[in-house]
Amino acid sequence: MNPYDIKGPYNPNPPKPQPKKRPLELGMEQLAEVSHIIAVASGKGGVGKSTVAVNLAITLARQGYRVGLADADVYGPSIPKMTGTEGEMPDVEVYDAMGEPLPEEAEITEDCKEIMVPIEKYGVKWMSIGYFARPEQALIWRGPMACNALKQMLLQVKWGELDYLLIDLPPGTGDIHISLVHDIPLTGAVIVTTPQAVALADVEKSVNLFRNPQVDKPILGIIENMSWFTPAELPDNRYYIFGRDGGRAMAEKYGLPLLGQIPLVQSVREGGDEGVPAALKEGPVFDAMSAAVEMIRMPE
Ligand SMILES: Nc1ncnc2c1ncn2[C@@H]1O[C@H](COP(=O)(O)OP(=O)(O)OP(=O)(O)O)[C@@H](O)[C@H]1O
Ligand SMILES: [Mg+2]
Repeated sequence: MNPYDIKGPYNPNPPKPQPKKRPLELGMEQLAEVSHIIAVASGKGGVGKSTVAVNLAITLARQGYRVGLADADVYGPSIPKMTGTEGEMPDVEVYDAMGEPLPEEAEITEDCKEIMVPIEKYGVKWMSIGYFARPEQALIWRGPMACNALKQMLLQVKWGELDYLLIDLPPGTGDIHISLVHDIPLTGAVIVTTPQAVALADVEKSVNLFRNPQVDKPILGIIENMSWFTPAELPDNRYYIFGRDGGRAMAEKYGLPLLGQIPLVQSVREGGDEGVPAALKEGPVFDAMSAAVEMIRMPE
C-alpha cells in the first residue's frame, strides 16, 4: 500500500489507540492444587445447606484435611455470619500480565489480575461475596452479573493446596446452577433436604440437575437435615416434626447413599447465628458430619 495515500483531512493529533477492554477471563489456575471440589446443593431454600456446608468443612478440618469453602450464594451470602467472620475484608493480591506480583508503586493496568485471599478461621479458608457488601445491602444482580460474581468467588481466589473445596450453592436449580456445575470441575455434589414432602419434590429437581446429560456430575449422596427434634433437656427423645425418613426414602428411590441425618437442635441454630458452628464441639452435628465424611472420603 502507498504510505502517502492518506484519506480524509490531515489530523495533527490522531486519537491514541485505546486498550481493548478485555472480558472477564477467569481460568482454572487457582483450582490447580485443589484435589476435590464438592457442591452442597438443594432445590429448596432454608433446608440447611449453608449449615451443612459450614459444619462439613469444619469436620473435615478437624480431621486434618486442608479445606476451603466458597459461598456461591451471591444473593444471600450467609457464610460470614455463620463463621463469625462478618466485617472482615479479604486481601487482594495483584499480578501483572506475566503472572508476577505487581510492585506496590506500579500502576494497575487492564491486563493485571487480582486474586482474593480467603479469610481463615477454624482451620478453614472461607470466601464469600458477603465480605465485599455491607450486611444490610441487598444484592440485586441480573443473571449474567450474578454468574460472574459467583465464578469470581471460586476462580479468583488464592485457594492454594486443598484436599477439599466445598461450594455452598444458592437454593434452586436455575441457569446459574447449570452454568456453574457445567463449568467447574466438580468431583460431585451433596444434596441437602428435610424429611418434608415439599422439600423432597425439590430434591428431585436437584438430582435431575446433576444427572442432566449436559451436566452429568456424580451425586455423592443425600444429607437429611432437621430429621427430628431433640430438646436439650430430653436428649433421648425424638420428635419427627417434619415427617420421618423422607430423605432416606428419596436416597433409596434414586439409588444414592444417605450420608447422614442431622437432628433439629436449638444449639445448631444458635451456633449459626453466633458464628460458632456446632461441629466445633462434640455432639450430634459433629457425629453426623463425621459419619458423612467416612462415606464420601476420597483417595488423596
Ligand atoms: N439441624 C438444625 N437444627 C437447628 N437449626 C438449624 C438446623 N439446620 C439449619 N438450621 C437453621 O435453619 C436456618 C436455615 O439454615 P441455612 O441457612 O443453613 O439453610 P440454607 O438451605 O442454606 O438456606 P438458604 O436457602 O437461604 O441459603 C438457619 O437459621 C439455621 O441456623
Ligand atoms: Mg444458604
